[in-house]
Amino acid sequence: MLGVESTAHSFGVSVVSDSPPYILSDSRRVYTPREGGILPREVAAFFSRVAGEVVREALESAGVRIGDVDAIAVALGPGMGPQLRVGATVARALASYYSKPLVPVNHAVAHVEIARFLTGLRDPIVLYVAGGNTAVVSYSEGRYRVFGETLDMPLGNLLDTFAREVGIAPPYVVGGMHAVDRCAEGGDFIEGLPYIVKGQDSSFSGLLTAALRMVRSGVRLADVCYTLREIAYSSVVEVLERGLAHTGRREVLLTGGVAASKILNDKIEAMARLHGAVYKPIPARYAGDNGVMIAVTGMAAYKWGYTIEVSRAFIRQRWRIDQVDVPWYYEFP
Ligand code: FE2
Repeated sequence: MLGVESTAHSFGVSVVSDSPPYILSDSRRVYTPREGGILPREVAAFFSRVAGEVVREALESAGVRIGDVDAIAVALGPGMGPQLRVGATVARALASYYSKPLVPVNHAVAHVEIARFLTGLRDPIVLYVAGGNTAVVSYSEGRYRVFGETLDMPLGNLLDTFAREVGIAPPYVVGGMHAVDRCAEGGDFIEGLPYIVKGQDSSFSGLLTAALRMVRSGVRLADVCYTLREIAYSSVVEVLERGLAHTGRREVLLTGGVAASKILNDKIEAMARLHGAVYKPIPARYAGDNGVMIAVTGMAAYKWGYTIEVSRAFIRQRWRIDQVDVPWYYEFP
């Protein structure tokens, strides 16, 4: 299975097989803006430039020709339109030119499936935290169900926007530390920032506004970073903990770009231990967006007969995780 990922800032292509060593290749190019946030059109233009070489590299390093591939999987959403269109166009072209079945993959489902695949945890409660999504999900009656989610901005977006606004970019997780984690070193907890959990849902936009106001009024940056980080991470761990208690699951997973944060991992591990649940972190390389997760999920879906006509393979920018049937759940990984 060849998988294509292009929902946000990474263009990834991977070839996987259904027997060891499973992951045959994992090629990617990540768009990094010189300053400011990511402009979808600029990223899409970058994806268009690199798409050909990434596909070629993924095939070559897997040691296969396109003819050897059984099917093409593509992330059709959720994500940003211009970027999604590049990946969809590449996948549709490969599928139609080489007469390969095309398999639609939901990017959020794929984040969960790659975590289950890499850890071997079969029936977990999952915290999915990234730049574009924040949700606690677990499987029930055929689908992943959302136990709690953000009411406004995703947690990754909170951290990235704060980092950019106060000038501690690049706001990515490097070596297990987000720029905000690094800035928080030596900081102390201070009063005055809002901790918001409504029902099972988180909210971060008020926290961002209040934190930026504090920095501008001269409060020590390390203290604001530390407090912001503690509040943001604790609120999602609280929802995860309640989800764990409510569902009675025995396993906990963390996935998505922010899953590369060592500190968030530590908090979740401590919470899981308290409940006697098993927690296994995923390698940082697979926390963020990658083609492998699309190919692995596409392989499972394809075995269950999921394909889509090339002419009907439209992107779905707001395709929710709970809109996708996952019949392979108990037979995967
Ligand atoms: Fe993602």
